[in-house]
Amino acid sequence: MDLKFRRNPDYQSLREEMTPERAFMDRRHILTAAGFLGAGSILGALPACSEPQQTPAPVSAGAGGHPVPGAALKAKKTAYTVADQASIEDAFTGYCNFYEFGTGKEDPARYANLMNVSPWEITIEGETDAPGKLALKDLIDYSKLEERVYRHRCVEAWSMVVPWIGVPMADVIKKLKPKSTAKFVQFETYLNKKEMPGVNRPSLRWPYVEGLRLDEAMNELPLFAVGAYGKALAKQNGAPLRTVIPWKYGFKATKSIVKIRFLAEQPATSWNKANANEYGFYSNVNPNAPHPRWSQASERVIGGKGGFNEKRNTDMFNGYEKQVAALYAGMDLKKNY
Ligand code: MTE
Repeated sequence: MDLKFRRNPDYQSLREEMTPERAFMDRRHILTAAGFLGAGSILGALPACSEPQQTPAPVSAGAGGHPVPGAALKAKKTAYTVADQASIEDAFTGYCNFYEFGTGKEDPARYANLMNVSPWEITIEGETDAPGKLALKDLIDYSKLEERVYRHRCVEAWSMVVPWIGVPMADVIKKLKPKSTAKFVQFETYLNKKEMPGVNRPSLRWPYVEGLRLDEAMNELPLFAVGAYGKALAKQNGAPLRTVIPWKYGFKATKSIVKIRFLAEQPATSWNKANANEYGFYSNVNPNAPHPRWSQASERVIGGKGGFNEKRNTDMFNGYEKQVAALYAGMDLKKNY
């Protein structure tokens, strides 16, 4: 199905609010950052559940021995779900944030094909008894994949509902043997100037890094995701490996991970380095803590029945309060934003 993007003034102003000063160096890209409303006609005509699905390619391994983007994945269904219908797949793959490929929402889908994701190695370092390099297929047990439908809430006040495929982060971390001195974990994205046109522009400092407290990472919810919508992740969504941390704003989820680093001290994170007043280390979804320049009380639902115009009230911890509130007992969540 073809996506027809067109400029959306509401989306445009949201982006301009979110993007730090330096990202405006490339005005041309910002000005072409298009909304997804172009698909609104399609969304309006077809409920998400009747969206024709492309048949996934059979499981096929690339040079790294892991499934190539778009290959069909077998995953166990789980009880982790959201009452709303999943966003259409074209919204998920067409409306992305992956600044290494440009700051426009459609840039990742346009340019990520340049990225070579096979073979793929992940370096494990820092406070661990198992340092070294692992091929992706040795880090992720593809015979134990789960499907979990989570709400995905971006700090820009939009959300999608995504059927992720992956493994619990806690299971992988146990295998990586963090030392008792490890209190945090940091994730780092692949960086290649030839394959990633966006890194030649000064939008963020590269490589993209994000982190969690180790007890957050060991919670039942976070995933190391390798797929979505029944298939191995598209490159623009962070193939071949990304994190999913559903109670936090989407920028906490690192795409195309090449390093996992265990640390005694709280790590630096990309958006915090770009603008510490606006993007904190915790970045838990919180409708009561407005972003300094816009409200977080509601969100635009992307790729659902209402196209770009459907709104819903934002839930505390993105609806995962029961599973994660205890992690922050006694903390002032407005100070620890
Ligand atoms: N990871 C990297 N490496 N680079 C990025 O620009 N953007 C983040 C996050 N992870 C980003 C990233 C943001 S702001 C969001 S909302 C999610 O990825 C978007 O994920 P999606 O495009 O798959 O929906």
